[in-house]
Amino acid sequence: MLVSGREILQAAKKGGYAVGAFNLNNMEILQAIIEAAEEEKSPVILQASQGALKYAGIEYIAGLARIAAEKATVPIALNLDHGTSFEQVVKCVRHGFTAVMIDGSQLPFEENIAIVQKVVEVAHPNNVSVEAELGKIGGVEDDIVVDEREATFTNPDEAAEFAERTKCDALAVAIGTAHGPYRGEPKLDLERLKVISTKTDVPLVLHGASGVPDEAIKIARQYVSKINIDTELRIAFSKAVADFLRENPNEIDPRKILGPAKAAMKEVVRAKMRLFGSAGQA
Ligand code: G3H
Ligand code: 13P
Ligand code: ZN
Repeated sequence: MLVSGREILQAAKKGGYAVGAFNLNNMEILQAIIEAAEEEKSPVILQASQGALKYAGIEYIAGLARIAAEKATVPIALNLDHGTSFEQVVKCVRHGFTAVMIDGSQLPFEENIAIVQKVVEVAHPNNVSVEAELGKIGGVEDDIVVDEREATFTNPDEAAEFAERTKCDALAVAIGTAHGPYRGEPKLDLERLKVISTKTDVPLVLHGASGVPDEAIKIARQYVSKINIDTELRIAFSKAVADFLRENPNEIDPRKILGPAKAAMKEVVRAKMRLFGSAGQA
């Protein structure tokens, strides 16, 4: 069933577990996520980035997700990932998304607050939840030197003020994770995450979670309610396709080529659901 992001986040916060948010770009990725959620009896958040909407078209993404959610027995939310414009958010609300992220993290504090407030105003009356971001979660390619890195982290007092003034439903925080594959082992400021969680009741979100060691996730999941995974799905997908074509160089049937990729992504999703503690919670 398709439910508001708020419902999933609040249940996770109350139950002391985190829900995985997995990025989809096509039908096979969607089916891998949904089948995993059904088998693990886990709530799940589907999310589409602006790039995914450009690639597949918003009608396809919204339509596919609605069909999948209608058939499924577990709670499912559909989220816009890293939305950067008010117009994009409105479009997603009109197309039946049940959650949106407005990423104003590149804006000065007051401007970030203002755009989140504007989004909350249109989203909440439609029962659509709003995720915001404070601090900068860069990409691993950003090459920020260590001293500068801390300056991009979320300030706990600002996070509390931000959540209070914006009335957002979820807050993405910067504590050392980054999008994309990590070069070495990521060093997370888990103490900061804990402090943020004591200063505000808003459900927290961990982005860039692909490649973060399980031990760090087990600590983080005590303080966050949503954990984003994209890169590990991409790696599973492309490795399975490459392996299959190496072993079957004459195969031309897309169903046969993509079947193993779907199975590989499903295993990644299942493992994350167990690790995040959402398995068995639906
Ligand atoms: O946060 C970024 C997600 O991995 C989506 O990436 O913008 O390339 O679709 P994308
Ligand atoms: P990864 O690509 O590092 O898994 O991050 C995903 C993400 O944060 C999507 O918003
Ligand atoms: Zn992200």
